[in-house]
Amino acid sequence: MIIISCSHGKHLGYNLAKRLKAQHSELFAKKFPDDELLVRFNANLNGKLVVLVQSFYGNISDCIVEVLLASATARELGAKRIILVAPYFPYLRQDKRFHEGESVSQGIIAKLIERYFDEILIIDPHLHRKTSLSQIFRIKSAKLTANSLIADYIKKHIKNPVIVGPDEESYKWARSVAEMINAESGILKKKRYSSYHVKVNLNKKIDLKNKNTVIVDDIVSTGHTIIETAKLLRKLGAKNIYCLCVHGIFAEGALKKLGKAKIKVISTNTIPNPAAKIDMSGEIAKAIKF
Ligand code: R5P
Repeated sequence: MIIISCSHGKHLGYNLAKRLKAQHSELFAKKFPDDELLVRFNANLNGKLVVLVQSFYGNISDCIVEVLLASATARELGAKRIILVAPYFPYLRQDKRFHEGESVSQGIIAKLIERYFDEILIIDPHLHRKTSLSQIFRIKSAKLTANSLIADYIKKHIKNPVIVGPDEESYKWARSVAEMINAESGILKKKRYSSYHVKVNLNKKIDLKNKNTVIVDDIVSTGHTIIETAKLLRKLGAKNIYCLCVHGIFAEGALKKLGKAKIKVISTNTIPNPAAKIDMSGEIAKAIKF
């Protein structure tokens, strides 16, 4: 087996190889002046199980093209089997045509991936209308979760927590984490008007008095969901507000905005960022069978 860190996978690839005592190599990826990409392997892949580690953040279109080029090339160079380890995998939220004429991106991107890979492993994929990865990819797939590590973090660092999920979809993270640490939980209702405009409501009463309020969600992108949730929670009496998320995308300065709103943010390292305090390399290592 050989672990290959792609351009957006180095933060986990090295550790993963160490944990698995496996050979490691970095994929060389170069951009030409016209923005075309070129990749080159610096290791012999012939007859090997090749694990490409790539998270998808920043210029995600380039990240996708890079892994397609890499996988096709690995195959040509004799790789026996090719696994994509995607700590964060994008395009899963667009799982239906919300407005007439739109692309259902989830299925389109999945088709590209399954054409080039034998197997895919994703941490906390955003599953909603399609409830399992096997409904999305026709190749072998595995879904990992950060829930137990998030629960451990809260247990260790936050006293008297009450867990809040900011929308109906977040129950998979918020409720499951709350159950693991025997904390009370509440799930909000969210209406999204645009990428930047969301409204949240709470149906059930939760007691926030003398508690540390912890919002748990899978993704923080612009941060609006969390900021609106925190506003509502403060109106209900919350003092200390934490946000624990799996995938800290933090687009357009979101981490700063959350800091200004006095929300303490902690994420896993599926995407490298200054709030990434929870390391996922151990969970990935456990899931790789060879
Ligand atoms: C959506 O359902 C996700 O779980 C997140 O709540 C959402 O992606 C967060 O987006 P933003 O940070 O832009 O509000």
